[in-house]
Order: sequence, then structure tokens, then C-alpha cells
Amino acid sequence: MKNKKNITYNNKKLKVLVTGGAGFIGSCLVRKLLKETEVKVFNLDKLSYSSDHTSIDSLIKDLNLKKSNRYELLKIDLVSYCKTNEIIEYTDPDLIFHLAAESHVDRSIDNPKNFVENNILGTLNLLESVKKHFQKLSTLRKDSFRLINISTDEVFGSLGSNGFFNEESQYNPKSPYSASKASCDHLVNAWFHTFGVPIITTNCSNNFGPWQFPEKLIPLTILKAINNEPIPIYGNGKNIRDWLFVEDHINALLKLSLKGEIGEKYCIGGFKEKTNLEIVESICSILDKLKPRDTSYKNLIKFVADRPGHDFRYAVDSKKISKDISWEIETEFLDSLNRTVDWYVKNQKWCDQTLQKANYYGERIGLS
Ligand SMILES: NC(=O)c1ccc[n+]([C@@H]2O[C@H](COP(=O)([O-])OP(=O)(O)OC[C@H]3O[C@@H](n4cnc5c(N)ncnc54)[C@H](O)[C@@H]3O)[C@@H](O)[C@H]2O)c1
Repeated sequence: MKNKKNITYNNKKLKVLVTGGAGFIGSCLVRKLLKETEVKVFNLDKLSYSSDHTSIDSLIKDLNLKKSNRYELLKIDLVSYCKTNEIIEYTDPDLIFHLAAESHVDRSIDNPKNFVENNILGTLNLLESVKKHFQKLSTLRKDSFRLINISTDEVFGSLGSNGFFNEESQYNPKSPYSASKASCDHLVNAWFHTFGVPIITTNCSNNFGPWQFPEKLIPLTILKAINNEPIPIYGNGKNIRDWLFVEDHINALLKLSLKGEIGEKYCIGGFKEKTNLEIVESICSILDKLKPRDTSYKNLIKFVADRPGHDFRYAVDSKKISKDISWEIETEFLDSLNRTVDWYVKNQKWCDQTLQKANYYGERIGLS
């Protein structure tokens, strides 16, 4: 189904709902929408351990948006159908970016039920509410309405040494997290085919950048290093991930909302495959220059018992999104990694406060 009418972000009347907008990727999207567009932004988030609103608060202050009515934070858990439905009616969105999910693989191994309930039921409730909302829209608004479902490359399982995931790859999730995300993708697809809800699904590789909850590989490594603590790496460190700077991911999502084809899937990757050991060593090298100590930070690396069912390799072929909507990676990997390391070094207070607020127990390794 072709898009009949494009939306524009230079429209003060456009209402954009971001679910999970207080998380790492969602808050980057909210900041970009507030900074670079005119639209009204609703941020629906249950505000969990991984949420943080300080980056949005400070932007609102800088842009003097407090009294402008352009932004609303709505503390809602998608697991409640009544509340979700109420909020969809209240916000009356033209466009939805669905990012809300429990997102950490290790946590899904500790508590799979939470991931099944939260991610699958949350997505079902959103879809049911959106279905009702969509059916009531005028023809004009129906034409431009989109729900962008933000998923992960992990739904495709694990690759051997060769090949890439692409839009034709079979679903083969291996962790409770990826299985819950795969289920969400299937539900979203069904609501498109059965009920005509205009959706686009994206499957993206590992993101990195500032403001990520410091339990995932890159921020965790930086913090362990600057605190002179052992830097844990699962197994032999040879597992491979494909890394993308978060701002490039956001650009892809915004472009897709304008130019993507309804009912289609798009794989988004960084073409930056790195072993976990390479990533950790790169961070150590950056810190060796930025914050020199007696010996290299690499001496803090400690190999620990592997994660159960640890996927060996993810690599994403993003040719389709590049060809169809001319999306390109605009940042350079090492520059972005430098920027990220520098940000965490300068924002240790934020990290401490965030970890304290989340009652973090500190033993996670954080690989995706
Ligand atoms: N981080 C990555 O590398 C990556 C890569 C590809 C795809 N994704 C996907 O992108 C999305 C965002 O990832 P992230 O890294 O920003 O995660 P995150 O954990 O930083 O943020 C998730 C946000 O969603 C909120 N949330 C979770 N369940 C909710 C619910 N039931 N109701 C309302 N809010 C809820 C949380 O409170 C949190 O603020 C996820 O769907 C994830 O699967 C992430």
C-alpha cells in the first residue's frame, strides 16, 4: 500500500505520540522533535528504572517551552488497557513511534514473565487502542496516520561468521527479550493486515550514545574504567554486534515516518561490526588519552562466565532503507564513540544519580 499523503513536521497541529520517550532512544527522538520541529509531542512512559527525564527537562528550559503547550509527559503503563485507551483518545495522535519495552537481555533471562507481560501485552493494548482511534479518523487524517514500531535485529537470532540480516530474514529469536520483541512485531503485522492499521516496523542494530542507562556495554565499560573497577566481558569477548549511533537511528525513524511504505519492514544498521572485546578496547584507548592513568585501562578487562544462549553475531544490511528513502549514516563511528565516552566522563554525577534512583545492584554486564 503506497502512502497517499505525506505528513510534515513543520506543522504546529501535528500531534506525535512517543511511547517509551523517557528511555535512551525515545528521549533522543523527543529532544529532536522539540528542537527541530514545530509539532506537539506527547511522551507516554511508565517511567521505569531505565527512564530519565533530565535531558528533556533541560531542553525545555533552554528552549523556553514550559508554557508553550508543545510537550506533555504522560506517566502511563501500556499494560493497563483502560489507561492506554484513555490516553490514545486524549492525545488524538497523527503519528505514533512505539519504543516502550523492557529492553535488557540479562534482565529478560532473570525475569522472562515481566518481558512477556510488559512487551507483548503492552503492544497488544496499544494496537487495540490505536485500531479504535484510527477507525474514527477523517479520511484525510487516515491517509497520513502511521504507527512506527521500533524493533530490534535480535528477533532474527544469531548469525555465523558470514551473512547479514535483512528484511527477508526469518524470525528466530533466542532470548526472552528477543522472543518478546518478535511477538510484538507479529502482532503489529497482524493489526496491519487484519485491521488496516498503517504500520511500519524497523529492526535496528545496537545503539549507543549519551544518556543510555549505564548498565549496557558501552556506558558500563566507561564507568567501570573510570572508577578503576574490573571491566567484565562475557566469554572470550568475540561475540559481534553491529553498532549505530543513536542520532542516526532517530534520523532513520523520522525519514521513515515521512517516506516509508505502509506495511513494510526496514532493517537499520551501522555497518560497524565489532567484537565486544574490540569495543571495550577502543573505549580503553580513548580513556587512555582523555584521562590517563599509570597503566592502560585495558589492564582492567576481566573475562567472565558467558551469558546463557549468548547470540554470536548480529550484522544488519540496511540497503533497503538507503535505497528506498535515501537514509544514510551521517556520523563517523569513532567520532561518535569519542563523543559518547567524553559525555559519560563529564556526566558521572548523572550516572550515579540514575543508578541510585534505579536501585541498581551493579552486577550486570550489559551486552545489548
Ligand atoms: N538500545 C538498543 O540498542 C536498541 C536497538 C534496537 C531496538 N531497540 C528497541 O528500541 C526501544 C527503546 O530502547 P531503549 O534502548 O531506549 O530502551 P530503554 O530501556 O532505555 O527505554 C525504554 C523505555 O520504555 C519505557 N517502558 C517500558 N515498558 C513500558 C510500558 N509497559 N509502558 C510504558 N512505558 C514503558 C521504559 O520506562 C523506558 O523509559 C525498545 O523497544 C528496544 O527494543 C533498542
